[in-house]
Amino acid sequence: MATSSQIPTLLDLTIDNITPNTISINSQCQNPRLRYLMSRLVTHLHDFARETRLSTDEWMAALNFLVGCGQISDDVRHEFILLSDILGLSLLVDSINHPKPPATTEGSVLGPFHTHDAPTLPSGATMSSDPEGEPLLCICTVKDTAGKPLEGVKIDIWETDSGGHYDVQHSDRGEPSERCIMVSDKEGRFWFKGIRPVSYPIPHDGPAGKLLMHLGRHCWRPAHLHFMFEKEGLDHLITALYMRGDPYETSDAVFGVKQSLIVDLEKTDAATAKEYNYTEGGLLLKHDFILTSQAETERLRDENAVKALAALGLRMRLVDHLPVPEVD
Ligand code: BEZ
Ligand code: FE
Repeated sequence: MATSSQIPTLLDLTIDNITPNTISINSQCQNPRLRYLMSRLVTHLHDFARETRLSTDEWMAALNFLVGCGQISDDVRHEFILLSDILGLSLLVDSINHPKPPATTEGSVLGPFHTHDAPTLPSGATMSSDPEGEPLLCICTVKDTAGKPLEGVKIDIWETDSGGHYDVQHSDRGEPSERCIMVSDKEGRFWFKGIRPVSYPIPHDGPAGKLLMHLGRHCWRPAHLHFMFEKEGLDHLITALYMRGDPYETSDAVFGVKQSLIVDLEKTDAATAKEYNYTEGGLLLKHDFILTSQAETERLRDENAVKALAALGLRMRLVDHLPVPEVD
C-alpha cells in the first residue's frame, strides 16, 4: 500500500505512465481486495485501449451503450445482467465460484427472471396456470455426493409460459405463475406439474439485443427449466435442465448449456401415472440432482485459485477465499 510519501505527482501523464500512476493513487485504499481488483481492472482497461488504439468515437459509443443499459433497466428489466450473460461473464463467474467435483450437478446461468415472490407449494402441485402449455410431470430427487437423500432443501423452480415469456414480462402480471418453491422430503424427493419448456428469445429490444445483432448472433435460449437449491451447509446451486434436441442446444445466446444438464423427456407409464395422479402417456421428466457441501466447494475453489494464480506467475495469498497479493 502506498504511504503519503509514495503518492505520485499526477502531472504530465502519458500513454506509457498513466497506468502505474492510476494504480499508485488508488493504492491508498485501505481494503486490500478492492485495491487488488482496481489495480487489475485499470491494467486490463488501459491495455485494452492501448491494444485496440480505441478511438474517441468508439469510447463515447461504449459509454452511451452503458447509459442505454441503465435507462432501459427497472425492477424487472436487468439489462446489465443480460449484458454480462451475452459476454459469457455470468457463466465464467459462476464456474469460478462454484466448481463442481465430477458427477455432481453443474451450475448454469441465473438470468434476470428469478423473483422472490414465488409461492411455496407442496410436492405434486401444479406450478403453471398456462392452459396452452403441454403438461409435464417432473419427478426429482436431491442427494449428496455419497448418495444420501437431502431433506429440507429449498428449491426455487421457474420457467416460461408456452409463448416463451416469464410472468414478469407480462405488463398485466397478477399472481406469480410458472414458478414455485418446494422443499425436499425425507427421501430427498420433490415433484411438480409444469409445462413443456419452449425455446425463447432473451429480451432483445434494448442495448444487449442490438449488440447481438451487430455481432451477427441470434438471441435465442434453448428450452429449459430453472432450479435453485439452498440449504445451510450446502453450496448454493443455480442450475437449469435443457431439453435434448432443441435447435439452440449448441448456440445458447447466454452460454448456459452443459452436456450434463441436457435431459430426455419420457412418457408416463400406468403405474407412475396412478402414483402421481397424472395422465398415462403424459410427458415426464425424471432427474436426480447431486449437491456438494459448502466446505467442499470452498476447498475446491481455493485449490483452483492457487493453481490458476501460480500458472499466471502471481504470488498471492487467500483472504476469505479471495486472492490478494502477497506483497503490494
Ligand atoms: C433465462 O434463462 O431466464 C435467461 C438467462 C439469461 C438471459 C436472459 C434470460
Ligand atoms: Fe430461462
